[in-house]
Amino acid sequence: MTADGRLIGDTVMEMKNITLRFGGVVAIKDISFDIKEGEIRAIIGPNGAGKSSMLNVINGFYHPQEGEVWYKGARRGNLKPYEIAHQGIARTFQNIALVKGMTTLDNIMTGRLTHMKSGLLSQMIWAGKAEREEIENRELVENIIDFLEIKSIRKTPVGRLPYGLQKRVELGRALAAEPSLLLLDEPMAGMNLEEKEDMSRYILDVNQQFGTTIALIEHDMKDPVHFEFELCKGTFSYVKTKVYNAITSESLFNKQHFDACNAIKTDYPYPEKASRGQRSDVDDQRKAAMIELNKQAIESILFA
Ligand SMILES: Nc1ncnc2c1ncn2[C@@H]1O[C@H](COP(=O)(O)OP(=O)(O)O)[C@@H](O)[C@H]1O
Ligand SMILES: [Mg+2]
Repeated sequence: MTADGRLIGDTVMEMKNITLRFGGVVAIKDISFDIKEGEIRAIIGPNGAGKSSMLNVINGFYHPQEGEVWYKGARRGNLKPYEIAHQGIARTFQNIALVKGMTTLDNIMTGRLTHMKSGLLSQMIWAGKAEREEIENRELVENIIDFLEIKSIRKTPVGRLPYGLQKRVELGRALAAEPSLLLLDEPMAGMNLEEKEDMSRYILDVNQQFGTTIALIEHDMKDPVHFEFELCKGTFSYVKTKVYNAITSESLFNKQHFDACNAIKTDYPYPEKASRGQRSDVDDQRKAAMIELNKQAIESILFA
């Protein structure tokens, strides 16, 4: 169990010595790591380190030339992305991949496609089974909209939304697939600090309320580690450029860090969900304390 009370289970995904090349470009070189059930696993590395490519390997867009992918205890062959989606893996993209002209609601509904059983034809003529399915899907999607607190924009075309909200809608679409493993490609990139904090809370809530295992990647060392610290996770990987070594971060997220992090959360508790969005002094104090803790930890690693 982690310091913040989450249960970390068995390994769900194991990447073993993955190497991916595009012609002469080596995007990923001999990277191994695992993702355990229930955890929020972050992988950070600079631009070009191969992070997005790694997510593309996990969800089947790319097939590595070398290495093995193990999912839920079995070695996975070269499946197609939709087959992998059916196995319960969903993702968001580094560059938001929403249909800009479609509303929030409709974009999130597209996340249900992998679950729609009745054929396109019956959906078109709106008959029996398809109608029931549509109603069930609608209900689930409305719950996600509530959960992400985006009710007021459900009918707004996403192209008109600010960046931070578009990222949240994209998270909603991934959640609509009811994934057991959720992959987030730079969920915080390009956001201001407040948007980042909101997003980090939603990520944590998804993990805690739905028990979803999450793997996320970020390119920046400082900001993401800042929000990682706020997430207070158990494991962490740092993909180094050039060296391409994945290391687990017991050294970074050690017991001492957990304790310090939890002490801050006790001293400056998070607001109840209902009052989120209204910043208080406590939020500012917690943030300052977290940033300080984070700075010290990063410095101790980078300059050790
Ligand atoms: N489809 C592709 N074709 C050719 N090269 C690619 C492709 N996708 C990624 N790369 C290359 O692989 C390397 C890693 O890219 P990427 O996975 O996007 O890194 P990151 O997400 O860490 O910034 C880069 O050198 C990039 O140019
Ligand atoms: Mg990337």
